[in-house]
Amino acid sequence: MSYDVVIIGAGAAGLMCALQAGSRTKKVLLLDHMPKVGSKILISGGGRCNFTNIHTTPANFVSENEHFAKSALSRFSPQDFIEILKKYNVPFHEKKLGQLFCDTSAREVVRVLLAECEKYRVEIKLNETVRGLKQVDSDEGYRFEVTTSSKILAKSVVVATGGLSLPKIGASNFGYKIAEQFGLKVVPTRPALDGFTLTDPAYQKIKDLSGASLDCVLTCNGQSFRENILFTHKGISGPAALQGSLYWKEKTRVFINLLPDIQLKELLLEAKKKNPQTNLLKILSQYLPQRFIEAFSSSFLNYSEQISLPFAQVSEKILLDWSTTLHAWSVLPSGTVGYAKAEVTRGGVCTSELSSKNMESRKIPGLYFIGEVVDVTGWLGGFNFQWAWASAWAAAQSV
Ligand code: FDA
Repeated sequence: MSYDVVIIGAGAAGLMCALQAGSRTKKVLLLDHMPKVGSKILISGGGRCNFTNIHTTPANFVSENEHFAKSALSRFSPQDFIEILKKYNVPFHEKKLGQLFCDTSAREVVRVLLAECEKYRVEIKLNETVRGLKQVDSDEGYRFEVTTSSKILAKSVVVATGGLSLPKIGASNFGYKIAEQFGLKVVPTRPALDGFTLTDPAYQKIKDLSGASLDCVLTCNGQSFRENILFTHKGISGPAALQGSLYWKEKTRVFINLLPDIQLKELLLEAKKKNPQTNLLKILSQYLPQRFIEAFSSSFLNYSEQISLPFAQVSEKILLDWSTTLHAWSVLPSGTVGYAKAEVTRGGVCTSELSSKNMESRKIPGLYFIGEVVDVTGWLGGFNFQWAWASAWAAAQSV
């Protein structure tokens, strides 16, 4: 029971690292505590896996060290992953904003990764719980003993156990515990790409809009996203809110421009001059659902009676208030939705502990961390898988 490399976690990063190390003729063992590989790949992208984003740049990632991901991302690009899928004739398409999805099923991605692992004789053991990991001395270069139901010697160990969301399908804190066991810093974790909860009663009317969706620009901590928001019975979801939640910190406000394509102030003042018989409801209904305007006016502007008055009877100040509020609706979330819905975990093994070239621990030679367990978190849209592939490739060149 001895291997060049033992990889713990057969998700996106673990599978990619296994096949790449295997292609370098390494003897590889890939372990997972669940009965199947790639569970998150299978449920990702609504079952079609948004497996990469062709516009990936380091700016699409959040980390305490914004430079850390640059090296790995530059050496294994979206095109490199596309080439692997093409070898197996997997059909795919761009949905929007550079996001690539399988035409048929996410199962295609797992099929390809498994076929490559098989080609390079990677051994895969499932339902295998790792009970311990320790450093050992050996004349043959084995640096670790991995305890499962048996004792396994490894020259290198790669931790690819992912983040904390969806424990039902295998997520665990194992990677962080291993980092701590070896004295490596872990950046505090929190759910991300999960949207916002609104518990303040002031938002009750807005939550009644559950199911409605709006195109907007959402800004959170200086980062803006132009996509839809979706009102839910808990708060705000939809792609723009998911992206914003990646940047959110306790007690910070989120600003939502609900009319990103028009200049409402100019439009209203002009209408007041030229058409004093028109009213707010008529004008805003051209751009926003009436249901939303009514809920919004009674919740936030306290001007609900003004929305159907002719402009001749509405002051400029009120029109300016509407304009300011609709262009920068200021929302104070009570939190983000949590791990049950989060697509990723922010934080993780601190990048200052790892080499950006190969993901190896600076303190413990031969110990590697890849994928989501590392403090590198991507935007929604295929970036997290691209990080999993790229960090896995980088480690595989070195194990
Ligand atoms: P990943 O979570 O894939 O794999 C970790 C593996 O380690 C699992 O197989 C787990 O069972 C195993 N493991 C954990 N603890 C263990 C232990 N103690 N012992 C042994 N094994 C252990 N991203 C994207 O780019 N495009 C998308 O479309 C989506 N969609 C999406 C939908 C949903 C619902 C979620 C929850 C997430 C996404 N993501 C996504 C995010 C993406 O799935 C995620 O970032 C990657 O799967 C991370 O890859 P890893 O290999 O690092 O972890």
